[in-house]
Amino acid sequence: MAGAPPPAVAAQPGDTDAIMGAVTPVRDALDRPLRSLRLSVTDRCNLRCQYCMPEEEYVWLPRRDILTFEEIGALVDAFTDAGVDRVRLTGGEPLLRTNLPDLIRLLAGRTALQDLALTTNGMLLADQAATLREAGLHRLTVSLDTLRADRFRELTRFDGLRAVRAGIAAATEAGFANVKLDTVVIRGVNDDELIDLLAYAGSVDAEVRFIEYMDVGGATRWSTRDVVSRAEMLRVIGAARGPVTSLDEHTSAPADRFRLPGGQTFGIISSTTEPFCRACDRSRLTADGLWYRCLYARTGTDLRQPLRAGASRADLGDLIGSIWSERRDRGAELRLAAGDRQPLIPIETLQREPHLEMHTRGG
Ligand code: GTP
Ligand code: 5AD
Ligand code: SF4
Repeated sequence: MAGAPPPAVAAQPGDTDAIMGAVTPVRDALDRPLRSLRLSVTDRCNLRCQYCMPEEEYVWLPRRDILTFEEIGALVDAFTDAGVDRVRLTGGEPLLRTNLPDLIRLLAGRTALQDLALTTNGMLLADQAATLREAGLHRLTVSLDTLRADRFRELTRFDGLRAVRAGIAAATEAGFANVKLDTVVIRGVNDDELIDLLAYAGSVDAEVRFIEYMDVGGATRWSTRDVVSRAEMLRVIGAARGPVTSLDEHTSAPADRFRLPGGQTFGIISSTTEPFCRACDRSRLTADGLWYRCLYARTGTDLRQPLRAGASRADLGDLIGSIWSERRDRGAELRLAAGDRQPLIPIETLQREPHLEMHTRGG
């Protein structure tokens, strides 16, 4: 493999990244840097959340196409040369990937990465939390939509609440600080649990983020009626817990954060009613090496093909840089502007092209 190529964009005087010795990220056509990579390590999942995988049957990616850890490492090197300094491992359910701690160890050794996180449904976390921590994972986010066992079963088709709660406890015990809990809020399903989830998050020293139900690929049962908006969530929380203060942070993170009287913080991710495309510095790599510049993008770039054909690190970095520099995606904003929203992609299309599924794109 070739040595590290020069930064894709020359550092400018006064640039903080340059002062710290890091790569200056490539910027897209709307001046957004390439910083954050969501890396799906498998399209398989051991739950069937109704907002993500409501169907009976799925078409899975062929096993021969799934990238090896060595291949993932090579692509991550090319991404870091173009500016990426944050990686989040996702799925499907990432803890289903055999020997995942080996990949974490490999990535934790990449000094260009300042942040290495993982989003999990928590089902296998109790067994794996300590190993993940030892392998060098920095941060953990666990999906948790309900605290009621019967609802959990209805929402996910599995009897898993106890396992997920044990996983969250194990994460803290293993030494993960600032664990986040992700709750997709759906009208008539779990919108009466905001206050209970806040209390639970406080009790386990985690920060809960309430996520608006999104009309992404895979959400074939999505309807505007089922979306609980950020404004509505804030009203409910304010009425029960007292005045909510906005933390007014200006970051590229999808969650806006708030503080309750007493100090507890929580987040709201309002991709549906108040999208944050303007600050979006993230892109996604599927488990078989397709690179998508937006959660809503119909097409991606196949990086597996050039990688397996022997492209050098410099070639891959240049390819990534040049494609990012042309990026104009604003998927969530365009969906909002279009009005009259229906599910994004019909089920027949998803069966022909599984890359359009949220569980293949990495949540
Ligand atoms: P940190 O800010 O690093 O903690 O990560 P995160 O908030 O991106 O992590 P997480 O994987 O928990 O993502 C939370 C949720 O934000 C996802 O489940 C999606 O609902 C939403 N989200 C993530 N990425 C995107 C994106 O590219 N576009 C949009 N519109 N929503 C996204
Ligand atoms: N709307 C919002 N978030 C979703 N996720 C999956 N599908 C949707 C959807 N339709 C997110 C959830 C889950 C993560 C893996 O992906 O946050 O916790
Ligand atoms: Fe649920 Fe995540 Fe699995 Fe989708 S990928 S079914 S959101 S656990």
